[in-house]
Amino acid sequence: MSDKKLKDLPWQDFKALSLKEKGEYFLAPPYHTLIAQQFTREKLEELCNLATRIKRINKRREGANFLKTLLSDKRAMLYFAQPSSRTYLSFNAACQILGLDTMDVRDSSTSSEVKGESPEDSLRTFSSYADLIIMRHPKGGFAERVAWMMAHTKREIPVLNAGSGADQHPTQALLDIYTLQRSFENSGGIDGKHVAFVGDLKRGRTVRSLAWLLTLYKNMTLYFVAPEALQISDDILELLDTAGTKYEVTPDFASVMPKADAIYMTRIQDEWDMQNESSEIDISDFSIRAEHLEIMKESAIIMHPLPRRKEICTDIDNEPQAVYWRQMRNGMWIRAALILTTFGRQGEVNKYYDDYKPVK
Ligand code: NCD
Repeated sequence: MSDKKLKDLPWQDFKALSLKEKGEYFLAPPYHTLIAQQFTREKLEELCNLATRIKRINKRREGANFLKTLLSDKRAMLYFAQPSSRTYLSFNAACQILGLDTMDVRDSSTSSEVKGESPEDSLRTFSSYADLIIMRHPKGGFAERVAWMMAHTKREIPVLNAGSGADQHPTQALLDIYTLQRSFENSGGIDGKHVAFVGDLKRGRTVRSLAWLLTLYKNMTLYFVAPEALQISDDILELLDTAGTKYEVTPDFASVMPKADAIYMTRIQDEWDMQNESSEIDISDFSIRAEHLEIMKESAIIMHPLPRRKEICTDIDNEPQAVYWRQMRNGMWIRAALILTTFGRQGEVNKYYDDYKPVK
């Protein structure tokens, strides 16, 4: 365990650290979850196992009632200053599973920010009423700033980053790992698999967070498949180089399809356009239609963080390769596991599971 504390660092010094170095500040209470780089493989495995245990316990009424006692003394604030369906709902559902009450602000135009209050003051206000802040914000790095700010108050409560700018979406990466792990549990796990990322890789925060988590697995090959203007940024490729993870950067989706064990589709992130420039880019070759299933490996899975547009044709939605609906539901379980470990109460679930061995 690291004993590095956010309160010991001025903001500028913290901001200047590498992602890996920043991660060392979130390994002790209050256990902020802010960036993918704070996770180790052991931690991912612990969270995946815990998610499965919570899911199984929740199947029976006695189990569900037990889970609801685990955090009944806590309250969570969901602050979503950007649109969200899945992330918001799955966090909210995860809180309900564990008995946490929730409050929310889903649109800063309904908060005192319209009266000129700074987002920092708004967040400090939320922390007076809650024991946990789950937040999504358009400004990259703002969740880190909030965590740092909390550490300099008398009430340092954990912050979970539910999506920040175009840079990080660590909890989406967790549910993606959980989905990969479950999909490959009978075929050797995630190690050694070929994973293709397709679409807007430049501005898709889910890809940026997941690509890093995959460096924690052995012998991976990653493919970044996108038109040149939307290709993955060099900072991610540098992280992969440092970690020794193999990758290929290509616009040729057809050549990658037969090699991939998992294909991770994404939509165009045109909310970040300055002047509607994405509309000029031809993305027709970066989509999956029914005929592509023929050239993919039979065992390959198709993932998507959702929402989708036209990059996955709806007529494959019920094919066995299409795991994106399951992926979405996995988010609820892994977020419940994350929230429980944030409060250090995972031991109670493990004990219940070992005592009662709930049905699969
Ligand atoms: C993603 C996001 O918000 O970054 N959505 C999600 O959380 N499932 C992906 C997207 O919006 O394209």
